[in-house]
Amino acid sequence: MRVTITEIKEMKQKKEKIPMLTAYDYVTAKIVDEAGVPLILVGDSLGMVILGYETTIPVTMEEMLHHTKAVVRGARRALIVADMPFMTYHISVSEALRNAARFIQEGGAQAVKLEGGKIVAETVKRIVDCGIPVMAHIGVTPQSIYQLGGYKVQGKTPELAKILLKDARILGEAGAFSLVLECVPAPLARVITQAINIPTIGIGAGPDCDGQVQVISDILGLFTEFVPKHAKQYAKLASEMKTAVANYVAEVKSHTFPTMEHSFPMDESLLKSLETTPSPSKGED
Ligand code: KIV
Repeated sequence: MRVTITEIKEMKQKKEKIPMLTAYDYVTAKIVDEAGVPLILVGDSLGMVILGYETTIPVTMEEMLHHTKAVVRGARRALIVADMPFMTYHISVSEALRNAARFIQEGGAQAVKLEGGKIVAETVKRIVDCGIPVMAHIGVTPQSIYQLGGYKVQGKTPELAKILLKDARILGEAGAFSLVLECVPAPLARVITQAINIPTIGIGAGPDCDGQVQVISDILGLFTEFVPKHAKQYAKLASEMKTAVANYVAEVKSHTFPTMEHSFPMDESLLKSLETTPSPSKGED
């Protein structure tokens, strides 16, 4: 049975921490799911860590759907949240509803995530009213990176901290089942976590959030172009992969791979018959 939003909300009441990770493909989703992660995010961070874009802004609905479907096939137990890409929920509520529905109906996700505070509250409410669970996201909202002027910690002044707290309350009231807090000072994240009934999921928001989310490529040491301060590397897979590939190249070049261990044998008598059979002359079958 898949994890439900009720179970995720209950984890906050039971003070049970909620681990969340991103995944973007079948194999990774299967590993993450089997390792016991209850919430998987198909983040639009895939724009950077999978597709090689500079920001999340070029990511399209079709790209997100393609990856969401692969993750859904790989993860049997985790609840899967799909990120709504840039400008797919701002133009009109009806467009937002249509796009959110595609993630559930075509993509197979169980929830969607969208960025923004008060400005998206009505959209959140309407999506939830249609039966689609919504994860909200405030603090650093990478789709607004040009407006924010970079990936800077948000809510550092009393005025901005109050706005974030208010946004968190409004999104909870709009029906979001959880709230991502990205790059928010830890004490502010603690205050927000205590002030709202839905679980907060922090990324660069300190230890007091109800849950934590990380980009899988960051914690596995796969994406090395930029390692955010909030990410801890639990492995260094990029360098392990480079070593493995270099070993393969060296063995192919030196004729040490493949050996018969990685090849398919053939019956000796069949081989002999091939060697003695004259090749058919012209006109013969
Ligand atoms: O796209 C993503 O991976 C995210 C997380 C950083 C929360 O939105």
